[in-house]
Amino acid sequence: MLRTKIAGIGYYVPEKVVTNHDLAKVMDTTDEWIQERTGIVERRYGKKHKETTTSMAARASEVAIKRAGISKDEIDFIIFATLSPDYYFPGCGVLLQRELGITNTAAGALDIRNQCSGFVYGLSVADQFIRTGMYKNILLVGSEMHSMGLDFSTRGRNVTVIFGDGAGAMVLQPTQEDKGVLATSLHSDGTYAEKLAFINPGAHGGYHAAHMDEAQDFGYSDAEYGEMFINEHMIENGQIFPYMEGQFVFKMAVQKFPEVILETLEKAGLKKEDIDMLIPHQANLRISQFVQRRMGLRDDQVWNNIQKFGNTTAASVPIALCEAYEAGAVKDGDIVCLAAFGSGFTWAGAVIRW
Ligand code: COA
Repeated sequence: MLRTKIAGIGYYVPEKVVTNHDLAKVMDTTDEWIQERTGIVERRYGKKHKETTTSMAARASEVAIKRAGISKDEIDFIIFATLSPDYYFPGCGVLLQRELGITNTAAGALDIRNQCSGFVYGLSVADQFIRTGMYKNILLVGSEMHSMGLDFSTRGRNVTVIFGDGAGAMVLQPTQEDKGVLATSLHSDGTYAEKLAFINPGAHGGYHAAHMDEAQDFGYSDAEYGEMFINEHMIENGQIFPYMEGQFVFKMAVQKFPEVILETLEKAGLKKEDIDMLIPHQANLRISQFVQRRMGLRDDQVWNNIQKFGNTTAASVPIALCEAYEAGAVKDGDIVCLAAFGSGFTWAGAVIRW
């Protein structure tokens, strides 16, 4: 039976370290508050005008491609997961193709917009393409340049302190061996789309306002179609930044993480006792610790790095997995479980035999 194996993995984080103390200089927050609620000590920010979501993805991809032992022109499909694309359109998939200098136009490029679960969704999509024999070398990346789109005033502190920049990548190939992706699970529930969202600019024209807890006056007049996408009113009122109802998100996350992990293990014919390494999306250290307790896992069976990188959304799972791999914490034959939950809401799981 054809399976999807991870032939190469890589990650990249920018050099610039931003501590909680640095943030406390520009907004009303403290190191104590951030560490106590999230576990985060510091995060990385990309270099303005020098780095982007795409350029960071390229750095991570180069490592993954090298470890896979292939040339970049052997890549026959690119899957790019991000919520912070360089452009509104075109997507980062084609920008990455250009950045890597891939001249093979037979390579397709697909962008995935599933926020924190984007990478695990992408892995599931890649797995289907590989198992049907359609592609032989899929480059899957998750990359985020959050620092370009956050509110650094006190108004945005509940969101801004959580997020960091970075990228992770994998090269996926077919294998006849009994290893690689054993099962994946994908879920969504759009009921709570606005609980964690980056709404403007967008083509909604205020249509979904009834779903927002905080009434938002979008400041449109009927004649101003051109300005409904983005206008001064939105900018003045901070409606161009991410919005999050933190406690609601927290409660959903601690419910959905264990559910999707158990479901995916069951599909793979495994139990929670079989997990060697759990790589949870790095949403919040408190969420990961809750999930660890629910799964009955030891500290050395869960990889957390949110303390130094913050929440890097679509990049967090591959960065954490790559770090664990480089540290020798993931070995041949290990059962590795990936799980993510985020905006949408969407959540997803994957079980891999390394
Ligand atoms: N520094 C200091 N105070 C802050 C703050 C910050 N960075 N952010 C918010 N506060 C304040 C609030 O203004 C509020 O003050 P008030 O009581 O005077 O009104 C107080 O802290 C509590 O705010 P609240 O939002 O209820 O905090 P919380 O305990 O829920 O913690 C989160 C906030 C965001 C850390 C927490 O809800 C969380 O982690 N949620 C999940 C987020 C997540 O994982 N997101 C990614 C999903 S993929």
